[in-house]
Amino acid sequence: MAKTRRQIQQNLPLIDLVAELIDARVPVSSRNPELPALIGNKPHMVLLNKCDMADADVTAQWSAYFDAHQQSVLCLDSKSGKGFSQFIPQVKTVLTPRLAQLQAKGMAGRTLRIMVVGIPNVGKSSFINRLAGASRAKVANRPGVTRGNQWFLIGKGVELMDTPGVLWPKFEDQRVGEHLAFTGAIKDSILDIETLAVRLLECLLPRYGQLLAARYKLEPGFEQMEGYALLCEIGRRRGMKISGGDVDTERAAAMLLEEFRNVKIGRITLERPEEAAINAGL
Ligand code: G4P
Repeated sequence: MAKTRRQIQQNLPLIDLVAELIDARVPVSSRNPELPALIGNKPHMVLLNKCDMADADVTAQWSAYFDAHQQSVLCLDSKSGKGFSQFIPQVKTVLTPRLAQLQAKGMAGRTLRIMVVGIPNVGKSSFINRLAGASRAKVANRPGVTRGNQWFLIGKGVELMDTPGVLWPKFEDQRVGEHLAFTGAIKDSILDIETLAVRLLECLLPRYGQLLAARYKLEPGFEQMEGYALLCEIGRRRGMKISGGDVDTERAAAMLLEEFRNVKIGRITLERPEEAAINAGL
């Protein structure tokens, strides 16, 4: 992280704007809280990526939240391209003072340079590929393997710079690690898979209980169950038994996490603006 911090700071003078990708399902946990201090007063856009996987109502709340903090924000789906047509126009809006400054210096046509930052697996490669064309950047399919410092010409007088190094989130808060493990941003090995699935159920029950009930055909009263009992019930409903008739909870846990990550349970957001202890530098 120290190396990445240094590299970001070294490259800052070269760029006009920082585009920070975050995961719309976990907008707090997928941010690095050091970033605002790192980039100082450089113009900054927040890109809420993976909006297609998140709860649309909560995404709208997040958008309003960032707006209220005078933080430019754009909702994106890097898989389908939804929201992308607004990217360049919004960059130009954010950079209005900078564009006026360039014009005054007789440099009106100068290429705008954008640094793209984000934690692993947030969709940085997908975002850059979509803007720059698939031939320019290769999508990494494992967390943490996004390439080094590279520039991509995306047309219309704009260049993107992929962040050198890897910007890790902050794991000091246990919840951050859990939420990133639920979404698959970090490997399952931080917790055993059953504990992770039980924690996920405990997080989903208060707000998304009805999605669980619909997906796993749960009987009324499931809301009062503890996480482990609920995991057993879900496994039972799916016929996941081991010899002797007990539920294969490990299989049930793997299935639950896989279905959550593939949006089979539904579009879910785990963090809301009103409950988020967000860093001051928003
Ligand atoms: P990174 O460079 O930040 O590490 O992330 P990358 O683009 O490799 O994306 C990580 C995973 O997230 C990929 O899935 C990618 O397809 C998916 N992804 C990125 N943005 C979006 C989005 O807006 N919506 C949805 N639904 N998915 C997104 P993968 O399973 O690793 O690969 P694959 O499904 O592309 O084969």
